[in-house]
Amino acid sequence: MLAYGLLWRVTDELHLQRLAADPARRRQGLARGLLEEAIARGRATGQRCLLLEVGARNEAALALYRSVGCAIVGRRSHYYTDGDDALLLTLELVA
Ligand SMILES: CC(C)(COP(=O)(O)OP(=O)(O)OC[C@H]1O[C@@H](n2cnc3c(N)ncnc32)[C@H](O)[C@@H]1OP(=O)(O)O)[C@@H](O)C(=O)NCCC(=O)NCCS
Repeated sequence: MLAYGLLWRVTDELHLQRLAADPARRRQGLARGLLEEAIARGRATGQRCLLLEVGARNEAALALYRSVGCAIVGRRSHYYTDGDDALLLTLELVA
């Protein structure tokens, strides 16, 4: 497996639970491809928004999510065991 994503459909929301690429194959567009496919499917099936959570220090993931239009809508302080904050991000899927 080179990359994978785990997505939950919760009523009219898509929740991105996991997204990862093999360290040896990063920066080749794999995660972006999965994310864009998830967004396209969400739009095609009438989902209202994409929701996800990411560590505030996770610059790679944050850059990826921002590049597809996700906006930060919340923060949970010291949420992770390493002390990092969790950022809540969302992307509206309906026009
Ligand atoms: C975050 C992660 C999934 C990105 O996977 P990837 O396949 O390497 O990402 P892509 O090649 O599709 O990159 C898409 C964009 O993300 C951003 N990006 C990815 N890696 C980056 C890095 N190391 N530094 C800065 N920006 C980065 C860039 O904007 C990139 O676009 P560009 O290459 O055209 O500049 C990967 O680094 C990973 O598996 N990390 C560990 C797991 C993780 O943190 N998952 C997210 C949890 S919410």
